[in-house]
Amino acid sequence: MGRDLRTFLQLLEQKGQLRRIVAPVETDLEIAEIANRMLAAGGPALLFENVRGSKFPVAVNLLGTVERVVWSMGMQEQHELEALGEKLGKLQKPRPPRKLQDAIEFAPLVIDVLKSKPGRVFLNPECQQVVLQGNQVDLDTIPMIRPYPKDAGRILTMGLVITHDPEDGTPNVGIYRLQKQSKNTMTVHWLSVRGGARHLRKAAERGEKLPIAIAVGVDPLLIMAAATPIPVELSEWVFAGIYAGSGVQLAKCKTSDLLVPAGSEFVLEGTMTPGEVMQDGPFGDHMGYYGLAEQSPVVHIEAITHRRDPIYHTSFSGRPPKEEAMLAIALNRIYTPLLRQQVPEVRDFFLPMDALSYKLAILSIKKAYPGQARRAALAFWTALAQFTYTKFVIIVDEDIDIRDPSQVVWAIASKVDPARDVFIIPDTPFDSLDFACERIGMGARLGIDATTKIPPETDHAWGEPLRSDSRVAEQVTRRWAEYGLEDVPLAGVDPRAWGYTGR
Ligand SMILES: Cc1cc2nc3c(=O)[nH]c(=O)nc-3n(C[C@H](O)[C@H](O)[C@H](O)COP(=O)(O)O)c2cc1C
Repeated sequence: MGRDLRTFLQLLEQKGQLRRIVAPVETDLEIAEIANRMLAAGGPALLFENVRGSKFPVAVNLLGTVERVVWSMGMQEQHELEALGEKLGKLQKPRPPRKLQDAIEFAPLVIDVLKSKPGRVFLNPECQQVVLQGNQVDLDTIPMIRPYPKDAGRILTMGLVITHDPEDGTPNVGIYRLQKQSKNTMTVHWLSVRGGARHLRKAAERGEKLPIAIAVGVDPLLIMAAATPIPVELSEWVFAGIYAGSGVQLAKCKTSDLLVPAGSEFVLEGTMTPGEVMQDGPFGDHMGYYGLAEQSPVVHIEAITHRRDPIYHTSFSGRPPKEEAMLAIALNRIYTPLLRQQVPEVRDFFLPMDALSYKLAILSIKKAYPGQARRAALAFWTALAQFTYTKFVIIVDEDIDIRDPSQVVWAIASKVDPARDVFIIPDTPFDSLDFACERIGMGARLGIDATTKIPPETDHAWGEPLRSDSRVAEQVTRRWAEYGLEDVPLAGVDPRAWGYTGR
């Protein structure tokens, strides 16, 4: 797989997953409306070639299905994501190999890390084929979209926002939305826990300005790397290199020492003065509401560099299904092995998209002792930083398919006494986008132990779960056509498909 946006567009086109739209379209509401309907239909990515008021085409929905996210990572199948998670798990807890076998297993990992070292492009990087500085800077030339009717302005959504730690130069790369404020200013909508916000606080302590770069139209794999809350101390570039299996090619900005992907379609270079804020928002957010208007830090754009014929890549947030939900499904798979490493009893783990891919988690465990479901829930909440904001955790036995809502609901209905099995932890930290909390930034979390109860959790016998007789079930499968039922799909090969379940 190539390492820029164009090679990914080619790949999508070859696979019949890219539609070019030549009819003229507006950046105001129209592109998002079309893209939204395409997402809901699970349709292809879109390239708008004739965007009113802009010389540049607009690409959207590139990562609009989990399949395309998997391709963007150079993989074919979703299960390969778990193998990547295993690799990250080893990096998270690197133990020096003691035995020869350990060393053999560890060696490829070291090679992977070495291969992932970023490289530098010194001469004429593609992202600087056109350089516009000072008065030439005009953000109106960039076809930023306004997705929802009450959004305060045009926003840039799929940019890699790059800053360096003012103390030690470590890069941070995140995806944070920016609102266009004028021809050369934007506001950046980052949560205070984000890496970029941390760098701005450090710059403030040192009384310095913070250089910032926004790279738009990059290899989508870099988007995955930037959107991943990294569980290990690694720069996003190295992390992206581990995802890709080879180092990211970087180039130095024209107006600062920041490094950006050399093959970016556009780069906006700017500076931030700590303490300078402007109102930004409201915008539609991933919870499915307009967020609140906020005072957000200002970015002064000092240069725009781009390829000779750049493609603007965008996205938009909103109630699922959206692209961010597809990224979250892929991340769920990557994190499953990492979670198992922290909480070994966890068999499987699922964050339903309709619950915003992080507000509700379902865990299945191999239960061996009383109280273990609560232990698993508590361990889950603290296992990785991004589970801090998960409001609901449902724990079921390992024989429940956690991706099948009917099995999960059956487990809750038949195994839970609310007084005994539901527990609430009040006053825990929450994301400020969650309006449901009484106090913004703080709320309760709820666990439901829907596992089969064992002594001393219960002191009376439980009914025995219904099961087919395996001999008869097999015979019925064999004789299905003989009964004259061949036109009826053969269900019940797995007894749970008949509604039977249990241990
Ligand atoms: C499409 C998309 C839009 C996002 N918008 C924002 C945003 O506006 N503000 C924010 O703080 N995080 C946003 N995120 C989430 C961050 O990019 C993500 O949590 C990332 O891991 C943060 O990186 P950091 O930990 O290096 O700060 C967005 C993610 C995606 C995929």
